[in-house]
Amino acid sequence: MIAIYPGSFDPITLGHLDLIKRSSTLFEKVIVAVLRNPSKQPLFSVEERVNQIRECTKEIPNVEVDSFQGLTVEYARKKKARVLLRGLRVMSDFEHELQMAHINKTLESSIETVFLATNTELSFISSSVVKEIAKFGGNIDHLVPPNIAREIYNKLGKKG
Ligand code: PNS
Repeated sequence: MIAIYPGSFDPITLGHLDLIKRSSTLFEKVIVAVLRNPSKQPLFSVEERVNQIRECTKEIPNVEVDSFQGLTVEYARKKKARVLLRGLRVMSDFEHELQMAHINKTLESSIETVFLATNTELSFISSSVVKEIAKFGGNIDHLVPPNIAREIYNKLGKKG
């Protein structure tokens, strides 16, 4: 069975990576799909994020990385995926995630959303927190892989 793990991944964190690794043992194939979202101002371009995730997941043979535009369920249908994968960190994630799962179910009833509980030690990590800490020069080595930490600092250095 093929699973899609959709998201912004701006940038990918250790929390996302943990979920990718664990889900790759549950599904035949996991496609990490970066949303091309024109209404957001990301730190990294979609192409940069796709390359970053490829680099971080290159040791996992059944993980593919791609980007998409539009509705996630349509992308999933195109890829013949039956499952949308999302991580749940804390209770406050739940409300929004449940709403998305219900909406997606109304759009395409044959696709199921599967939630994986994030590793407790990583449950406080979010991409926005990582960017905020880095903006103020704080340490992010415990939040993202080392190559991503370097790229964040390079990007912010160039921007600043
Ligand atoms: O990493 P994020 O930003 O929490 O991911 C959110 C994402 C990309 C999964 C969600 O916004 C999404 O699926 N967007 C595509 C548009 C869509 O399908 N919307 C209907 C479900 S609300």
